[in-house]
Amino acid sequence: MDFRIIHIDETDSTNRWLRANGQDYTSSVASDGADGHTVCEVVVAEYQTAGRGCGTNTWESEHGKNLTFSLMLHPEWLPARRQFLISQAVSVALCETLETYIYNKVEIKWPNDIYVGDRKICGILIENRLKGPHIADSIVGIGLNVNQAVFVSDAPNPVSLYQLTGKETDRDELLQRFLKHLEDAVYRPAALMGYEERLYRREGWHAYKDAEGRFEAKMDGVMDDGRLMLTDSGGNRRVYAFKEVTFVI
Ligand code: BTN
Repeated sequence: MDFRIIHIDETDSTNRWLRANGQDYTSSVASDGADGHTVCEVVVAEYQTAGRGCGTNTWESEHGKNLTFSLMLHPEWLPARRQFLISQAVSVALCETLETYIYNKVEIKWPNDIYVGDRKICGILIENRLKGPHIADSIVGIGLNVNQAVFVSDAPNPVSLYQLTGKETDRDELLQRFLKHLEDAVYRPAALMGYEERLYRREGWHAYKDAEGRFEAKMDGVMDDGRLMLTDSGGNRRVYAFKEVTFVI
């Protein structure tokens, strides 16, 4: 993959910017770089005035301190029903990247928050456009807490690399390392990606909450379509789509 990196100082949201200004690589001719590789556009902003989180959430990030960026993939070979593979590849690549900076365990809180201990270091917002039964393009937005020392929003449990290591990290180098891991992960079969092994709370009994209330369960894994499988303390299998269940932390 050839990464074409665009740096901008300020925008409302890099996901929105890329959707509006990203080049249309949907024709097969345009999707090839000079050496025949697929081109992947990456837009990096120093500051977002309306950074978007999942659902109605916003994304806090101090000017010039973190990595807030979006990239556009064109996995036209990927059936729409397997679109969760994008989430898996991106989150595994982020874990692998962060593990080159810290000794702490880096985990994926289903479906795709990146956690260190019980704190969130990175959020991912993926927006796919479908073309029939396939994915036409996928905008992958990533907010990675790098050098921010203090968080002021009501985000429940943020943490940054700076808070974990006590020193500043070069953001360009971090981005380059991530893009290498991502390129490697997207071509890896799901089973070898290690998504499930990296899941936060993969082992043991933990508290969850759904529309019926709080319950204890153990995690069984994730289905191909991304739904989470739990077994509750009564021995019942429960299957949840995103937002249907929350982790009680
Ligand atoms: C979440 O955990 O709620 C997802 C957060 C995603 C934030 C990133 S920052 C770069 C990109 N642009 C956005 O507006 N959001 C994503």
